[in-house]
Amino acid sequence: MSDRTAPAPAAVLVTSRPLDEYCGLFGLTRAAIAALPGPLLDCPGGAAALAAEARPLGCRVIATDPVYARSTEEISARALAARATMAAAMDARPDLYPARRHRPPDRYLRSWDRAHRLFAADRAAHPGQYVAAALPRLPFADGTFALTLSGYLVFAYPALFGPERQLAALTELVRVTVPGGEVRVHPLHDGAGRRTGHLDAVRRALGARRITSEIRTVPSTEETGRPRRVLVLRRVVRPERHGGNG
Ligand SMILES: C[S@@+](CC[C@H](N)C(=O)[O-])C[C@H]1O[C@@H](n2cnc3c(N)ncnc32)[C@H](O)[C@@H]1O
Repeated sequence: MSDRTAPAPAAVLVTSRPLDEYCGLFGLTRAAIAALPGPLLDCPGGAAALAAEARPLGCRVIATDPVYARSTEEISARALAARATMAAAMDARPDLYPARRHRPPDRYLRSWDRAHRLFAADRAAHPGQYVAAALPRLPFADGTFALTLSGYLVFAYPALFGPERQLAALTELVRVTVPGGEVRVHPLHDGAGRRTGHLDAVRRALGARRITSEIRTVPSTEETGRPRRVLVLRRVVRPERHGGNG
């Protein structure tokens, strides 16, 4: 795998998805989030409302994103720009976005507006839960999180994350997740809907690092409009070695 052919990075949108859309994209429910035995990592968090909306469920979410080095006003400006970009993209390529008859684009984007407002209020109230950091290096100890979600970055922006960087980023997400816990990554295609061609090679390389992978299809929900493919990663747990002669 090589990153040498990667073109210059395109600007990354700072989007603001609500918790219900996260649930639909990653095959989760509110009850499953509430039942997590430890904190959840949202990387990248963008201007999303996962941390804000999971708190009343009793789940602690740490959101991390390099954009958190910026003020909430600057992030809000980027979230509004992302909304405008998405509105134009949904007009231009309706085939790529949730079924219009179930969820008209303006209603869908209003859910982003609400999430963005929740994010801004939550970051003001709980700044410590929004950590400025960039993959492939995260400032968390091994095994910190019970579940890690990574939405709309690693495979969505191949100009920014070529195969080597994807591998490094995925390995890092697994490192900070508890052994036995899952890392879930979506989407497995870029912004134009092109599937990642080298996914099998990335999965083989992860396997060589003792990371298991599976591609799970999660069913369509009102928020997602169609079934989704999610890459699920887990660290292989070494069996305990017993001493003695037995
Ligand atoms: C499309 S948004 C996704 C946000 C959120 N997961 C959602 O679905 O609404 C992509 C985010 O990736 C962040 N980002 C860009 N480079 C990154 C990196 N190297 N590591 C982590 N996040 C990064 C951007 O700042 C942006 O907020």
